[in-house]
Amino acid sequence: MNTGFYENREAENATLASAGMKEEIHAFIAETQKEKPFLPAGVDLASYLDKLFAHAVIIPFLEKGCIKGVIAFYCNDLENKRAFFSMLAVAADQRRRGVGYFLMETAFRFSKLNGCDTVEADVYKDNIESFKMCEKLGFAIKEDKGDFYVLQKLLD
Ligand SMILES: CC(C)(COP(=O)(O)OP(=O)(O)OC[C@H]1O[C@@H](n2cnc3c(N)ncnc32)[C@H](O)[C@@H]1OP(=O)(O)O)[C@@H](O)C(=O)NCCC(=O)NCCS
Repeated sequence: MNTGFYENREAENATLASAGMKEEIHAFIAETQKEKPFLPAGVDLASYLDKLFAHAVIIPFLEKGCIKGVIAFYCNDLENKRAFFSMLAVAADQRRRGVGYFLMETAFRFSKLNGCDTVEADVYKDNIESFKMCEKLGFAIKEDKGDFYVLQKLLD
């Protein structure tokens, strides 16, 4: 990974999504899904985004005002102090530049500041990129669910 990546990031690269960004995020996810679907089969993108915009935290990664990546996660389970990462996508031509890693770390900080001690993510076993990234970020396998693993990480 380019180690200069973090030094070059500016605050406006990662920002909370406003309701007005829903259409743009929809278009970004639809485009990213074309290459290789990563949302569970049968998920209706519009309804999925409605749910995320209602209950989750959505952080797009912007460059020159264009979305190059987006992460969505829940950090509202304050009883168990557990965040759940629902979706992460980086534009196909922007991968392996550290954008995914940066968004995950931003989400860790946000979750911790909002009272979470752990974070979980379901990762399909055939999604090697995602699994490798989570491994590098310190996730461990909590449960084997057949097609996917439930991964867990303690937030420091
Ligand atoms: C998974 C995904 C988000 C990774 O984003 P990214 O910005 O390319 O990832 P990064 O550049 O931050 O990589 C971080 C680490 O992840 C691992 N990784 C990422 N892509 C990888 C690949 N193709 N092969 C092996 N390891 C990979 C590496 O350990 C990498 O660190 P390194 O570059 O120092 O070796 C991206 O591939 C993607 O959008 N995939 C399609 C959507 C998806 O599957 N999302 C997850 C399920 S919702």
